[in-house]
This record gives sequence, structure tokens and C-alpha cells, in this order.
Amino acid sequence: MPRTTTRLNVLPPYPLAHIPQKKRDLIARGVDVIDLGAGDADLPPPPAAVEALAKAARDPALGRYGFGLGYVPFREAISRWMDRRFKQRFDPLTEIVPLIGSKEGIAHLAFGFLQPGDVAILPEPGYMAYAGGTLLSDAEVYAYALRPRTNFLVDLDDVPKEVLDRTRVLFLNYPNNPTAAIAPREYLEDIVRRCRERDILLVYDNAYSEMAFDGYVPPSIFEIEGARDVAVEFHSLSKTYNMTGWRCGWAVASKAICSVLTRVKSFVDTGAYMGIQYAGVAAIESWESFLPGNLKTFQERRDAAVSAFLEADFEVESPKATMYLWIPLPEGISSAQFTDRLMQDEGVIALPGSAFGAGGEGFFRISFITSPDRLREAAMRAGRVLAKV
Ligand SMILES: Cc1ncc(COP(=O)(O)O)c(C=O)c1O
Repeated sequence: MPRTTTRLNVLPPYPLAHIPQKKRDLIARGVDVIDLGAGDADLPPPPAAVEALAKAARDPALGRYGFGLGYVPFREAISRWMDRRFKQRFDPLTEIVPLIGSKEGIAHLAFGFLQPGDVAILPEPGYMAYAGGTLLSDAEVYAYALRPRTNFLVDLDDVPKEVLDRTRVLFLNYPNNPTAAIAPREYLEDIVRRCRERDILLVYDNAYSEMAFDGYVPPSIFEIEGARDVAVEFHSLSKTYNMTGWRCGWAVASKAICSVLTRVKSFVDTGAYMGIQYAGVAAIESWESFLPGNLKTFQERRDAAVSAFLEADFEVESPKATMYLWIPLPEGISSAQFTDRLMQDEGVIALPGSAFGAGGEGFFRISFITSPDRLREAAMRAGRVLAKV
């Protein structure tokens, strides 16, 4: 085996990496598995998107290289939607970057903004692409532990000045995976102000902007004054339209910031399949008709999960957004041990908080990716494990 690099060796284990194999082993043992691991719902995409993709598959023009430009009507649909949804105007050709899923863009962006000696502040627990992009750029990770004390918000006052002085990028994600926390507008105003003062790139991951309940409407970072000077926002079709495997998302930012990402991407990919972008137009155009029904399904699941986990003696609050419950464990119980017992003894797959980094210890995450009945069953089984540990 030829030698690998230091940057490869510093990558932490990927939290979801071992689950598919463990799940297969359990099923082979005849266990009735309830998988609440990945944020990957069992629900169908908008029918219009499915039909559009079938049609696109028969069009050879859409099967050619998309390059960075991609399918222009997709850019235009994104631009119209950003205006309609957030009242923010972006030029389709220069201020939007189509992505092969938002993860790809989040990770690749780091190559353009981080280098050795630089620091990226990222939330821990948090989405692994933030650390991935940072470490693969040979920059340093400053993991900020999201804890109840700050309502799971990153408080820059807690970060040492020496670290802040070297910080080039701040990754934020609200509504948050995995904690389901949301960010008040005043908080975002303060963050934008501080990023402008220090010329820090604010990477705002808005993958869950459309997955909110009880009348809560998540904002775009661009609703905050001054954000265009320092922020880039990532969006995805994955959660909003149940299109995780389709790999389709976008970045939106000033022309200057977008051109950095476009430049990096032009050397590592040749654009998403234009048939997917064509179907993406259909998905985005079905936003108004598709979203309410889909959210109702998630809300029913959330409500079922919250009451069932409460009944099973866990302390949970009803989240205003995302498809996750971030459930605290009693002091002294390790999250990895708990989720391991839950999987081995009861066949329920959940993610230990520690899989998202040390800052996630003391919690575990479940996703609303199955029916209310199965969620209730999972909670009952989790309650049995809790009583034993
Ligand atoms: C916080 C967060 N950001 C980004 C993504 C990536 O989404 P995509 O499927 O668009 O790559 C996810 C997916 O789980 C996520 O949870």
C-alpha cells in the first residue's frame, strides 16, 4: 500500500460509516430492525420531479456535460424561489452555483478559503463536511461544543482571541442537525456583524430551511443586513423534497464568493447531470403544492416521537424544525454504549452524540424517517434499554 497523507489520517471516523453493515448483520440474525439513523426519509419526491427525470432521461441534450453553468433554467428557478421565499434577489448566472448535493459544495468551498495556519470554527456536534473540507485544506478545526447552556448556539465570546485572530471561516447550521436548535434573528445579526468586523467567511448551511413546524419560518442569512459581504448560504433538495440520493443543491452568495467555489469546482467536477437539474426545476416549482403535505407527515412523526420518548422516560422537547430529536441521556451514561445496547438488544438504530464529536456526548439522535407506529415502537424499546443501564 503506497503511503497516505497526514491530512487523510487526521480525518475522524465517519459517523454513519459502519451502520449499513451492522444493519445487514442484525437483519441476517432475524432482528426486526428500526433504522432511525440517517436523515434520509422513506417518503417519495414530488411526482412532477419524478416525471421530469423520466422525460429528461430520453433527451440526449440533457445527458451531455453540464459544466459549471449547468441547466440555466435550474439557476433561474432557484433565483425565483429565493426571491419568493426570502425576498432576496440573486443573479441566476453569477450569484448561484448549482451543486451535486450541498455537501459537495460545503466541502469544496474550503479549498478556496482555507490554508495551513487558518482556523475554521465549526459546531460540534455538526455535519461532517465542515470538518472534512477544513482538514482536507490542511487548516485547523476549532470545534465549538453546542450545549444547552447557549441554546445550542455558537457563542464567539467563548472562543479564545488567538483562535479568532486566525479564523477565516465560520460554519453555522440553523435549523440545526443534529440538535434541532433554531437561531433567533438577533443572534444572526450579531454573528453577521462580527464576521464583517473580522472578515470571516460565514458559511450558512440552510439544508433544513423548509423543514419547520408550528408556524416557525426559518430565515435566509441574507435577510440579515450586511450578510452579502461575508456569507454564503447552502440549500438542498434532499430534505425539502425527499430527494437525498438525487444529489442536487446550490450555493448562493455574492458574485465574488460564488466565483471562488465555481473555480474550485471546475477542477474537480463537470457539473451535476442536467436531467437532475431539469427535474430540480420541477421540484422547486412544486414547492407550494408539495411542501405542506410533506411537512404534515413529518409533524405527525415528530409528535408521535416526542410523546413516545417522553412516555419512555426520556427528557425531550418538541423541536420547531428539522427531522431530528436530540435526546439527552442521564449523567454518566455514554452515548455510544447506550446506542450500541439499543441496536444489539432491541434492533433500533440511532446515532450516539459522540459520533458527531466529543461535543455531542451525553445525547443521541433519532430521525423521523419512519411511520409514527414504528417511532412509537422504537421509543418503547429505547425505554427498556434506559431502564437497564
Ligand atoms: C446539516 C446538513 N447540511 C448539509 C447536508 C447535505 O445535504 P445534501 O444531500 O444536499 O448533500 C445535510 C444532510 O444530511 C445536513 O444534515
